[in-house]
Amino acid sequence: MEKRQQFSSRYGFIMAAVGSAVGLGNIWRFPAVAYENGGGAFFLPYLFALLTAGIPILIMEFTIGHKYRGSAPLSFFRFNKKAEWLGWWQVLISFVICTYYAVIIAWAVKYAIFSVGTQWGTDPNKFLFGKVLKLSAKPGEIGGLVPGVVIPLLFVWTVALFVLYRGVSKGIEKLNKIFIPTLVIMFMIIVVRALTLDGAVEGLNAFFKPNWDMILNGKVWIAAYGQIFFSLSIGFAIMITYSSYLPKKSDINNNAFITAFANSGFELLAGIGVFAALGFMAKQQGVPIDEVVSSGIGLAFVVFPSIINEFPGLNGLFGILFFLSLVFAGMTSLISIVETFVAGVQEKFHVSRTKAVLMGGLTATVISLLFATNGGLYFLDVVDYFINNFGVVTAGLAEVVLMAWVFKGLGGLQSHANAISDLRTGAWWKVCLGVITPLVLGFMMFDNIRQNLQKNYEGYPTSLIMWAGLLVVAVTLVAGILLSRKKWKANVSLDTEKEVA
Ligand code: ALA
Repeated sequence: MEKRQQFSSRYGFIMAAVGSAVGLGNIWRFPAVAYENGGGAFFLPYLFALLTAGIPILIMEFTIGHKYRGSAPLSFFRFNKKAEWLGWWQVLISFVICTYYAVIIAWAVKYAIFSVGTQWGTDPNKFLFGKVLKLSAKPGEIGGLVPGVVIPLLFVWTVALFVLYRGVSKGIEKLNKIFIPTLVIMFMIIVVRALTLDGAVEGLNAFFKPNWDMILNGKVWIAAYGQIFFSLSIGFAIMITYSSYLPKKSDINNNAFITAFANSGFELLAGIGVFAALGFMAKQQGVPIDEVVSSGIGLAFVVFPSIINEFPGLNGLFGILFFLSLVFAGMTSLISIVETFVAGVQEKFHVSRTKAVLMGGLTATVISLLFATNGGLYFLDVVDYFINNFGVVTAGLAEVVLMAWVFKGLGGLQSHANAISDLRTGAWWKVCLGVITPLVLGFMMFDNIRQNLQKNYEGYPTSLIMWAGLLVVAVTLVAGILLSRKKWKANVSLDTEKEVA
């Protein structure tokens, strides 16, 4: 067995953790989710979810990885034999996410190139759906592969798998140390430019103006929890895997706070930048803001090109900066998502890292082609909604309930983290994980399910919802349980202490 790899410095680990957290979720998803779920009123559930679930869970996952030093399945197994399935369930959720996540990065790669000479022309909507995605007429129709998407997609996968093949410090850490500071600089330039455009203030007003009618709606709360989980990369095996590569002497609690605040800071910055730009566009066209806002996908790939068209100068350059930001943010997250099953496969089947990268990576690449077909966008939208709002959120809820109440593991984890961290957590940490999150998240989840039963998501056909949404979520759970029934190879140490020694 190869020696367990490690991050070479605290800074390197933080860059990797922030790199995983800051992703398409911050730039592509957050502004639209916040706006759709009550604008300024979304911040209350968002902050509540961040402070009572996001940060406590991040601390818990960092501790699990650091203490048990394995992929999510092996870490959970070492914690308690009966918990392994939870690790596989989360790994499989990551597997599903990476298959469409890579496709969005591929679009961004294309759009960075289209930015040269603003090739999307005067009708970015028609350009995206007609020329680039060649979208089928009806949701649910697969059609054929779209070569213009397949080619950048293969490029994205090649880069990601190469970095993973290079390993933790020479691949993941090195890439993040370059990409994250570059991303921050590129994004700052865009935000400052957006804030100085005419109409920016109206845009920010629309973003921050609360719609209080929505505050008690379960859908809004689940959207907030879903956003926090997705954005912080918690509940789907990532942070457990990354922290398993921490050296023994490492801080846990403070690293979690730094990661969480860096992520939410970037998210807020993205929201401010995007809405300032939307305000500008609304003013240019003389229409109210809500007419120019659209949901996630359209926001980045339709509205942004339109905004860039209206820029007074350097249009192409701002296009390149924006789409490269998406590519950089997305790549560092994609790599962390794929690392979850590279590590899982490597340990469970006792194969080399290279073999695990090839086995896991190539399977994911082939499946991701489904989203590069004519019907790809519809599948992507349904899978993204269900895997987040039902997969990630449920797996996160299951994780806290099992750890707090079934395996009663919080005390042991807390002493482990407190013994090595600059900051010590107190009783609040257990109360958040054991009481507040299960109660609030559990209650809101029921309300959300009730609403979803009343009306199909986006009015999509029931068959599409059933198999691209619910079936995919169910398969991750069932396959996770099945994988946990397979025995570990005799030479995998099932005891942390022995391996560490
Ligand atoms: N945390 C990653 C994101 O926000 C997955 O995109």
